[in-house]
Amino acid sequence: MTDQRTYLEAKRTVDDRALNRRVLERFAEGLDARSSPVRIVEIGAGIGTMIARLAAWDRLPTEVTYRAVDRDAESVRYARERVPEWFEDAGYAVERLEDDPGGTTLVARSDGRRLEVTLEVADGFEIEDRADAVIASAVLDIVDLERALPAIEGLLEPGGLLYAPITFDGGTTFAPRDPLDDRIERHYHHHMDAVRSAGGSRVGRELLWRLPDAGWSVLEAGGSDWIARPRGEKEGYSGDERLFLESLLETIDGALADFESAERESGVGDLESAERRRWLERRRNDLEREELVFVAHNLDLLARRPG
Ligand SMILES: C[S@@+](CC[C@H](N)C(=O)[O-])C[C@H]1O[C@@H](n2cnc3c(N)ncnc32)[C@H](O)[C@@H]1O
Repeated sequence: MTDQRTYLEAKRTVDDRALNRRVLERFAEGLDARSSPVRIVEIGAGIGTMIARLAAWDRLPTEVTYRAVDRDAESVRYARERVPEWFEDAGYAVERLEDDPGGTTLVARSDGRRLEVTLEVADGFEIEDRADAVIASAVLDIVDLERALPAIEGLLEPGGLLYAPITFDGGTTFAPRDPLDDRIERHYHHHMDAVRSAGGSRVGRELLWRLPDAGWSVLEAGGSDWIARPRGEKEGYSGDERLFLESLLETIDGALADFESAERESGVGDLESAERRRWLERRRNDLEREELVFVAHNLDLLARRPG
């Protein structure tokens, strides 16, 4: 069983390729237009890959305070180890200011840049702050938007920005083709929409009307599809992407098993466990032989808060 930290670390290179550069550039320009120091809150920051990426890609203003929040204590513990290493790899000198169970604060400096980063365990929709920007990466598709959007609005200063990259938008496809793929995809998405307690399979496009309906201005939007594939006979998958795919197959299997029991109770099932097991075994074999290709459809959004 792949744990969440391994999955999030393996996902980093997939996200690096997927992130929509047009939306990211507009976000970086929006940050540059705010007065210094620019305050960013990241909700559902996981193991801290986004702050590490923005620093390494030079997409942050010269002076930034960055509060990275996740409700999963294990992920935040892992972030406390890895984020300073990632900053150092990107050429920053790192100083730890505070390190206690409530939060770690570190300062990273490079070429006149100063990033003050806090890594904290909290429910991102319960905290208080006044931020120039909120980042929620691969998060809005798994939470209750009725709760999340007003909470994010409450965290933002007037004119503040929401950057929500890698928001799932209803496409889970594999190659080579298997006759069961379409049914697996349908059941997996139905699990997100109707069985899981929050989130949904088409939140990317849903935000394109929900945000304007609630008074937000959508400044930019674009596709950020995940593509994980073998790079050629000698190279196999990039980085740790084999682990990313293993973990994803486990997630789909878990969702389908969950769905099956819900179906059994309602008596409307059309996907037998034996079929599910056969499909999974075939996909694991494809992965083992380095033949499995996976594509998921996501959207990146940049929006300005109402008012
Ligand atoms: C799919 S992961 C994405 C992590 C990271 N943003 C990334 O892209 O690698 C979703 C994260 O959101 C966190 N999360 C979900 N609901 C949250 C909430 N209400 N407050 C804080 N974190 C939350 C989960 O613990 C998990 O780490």
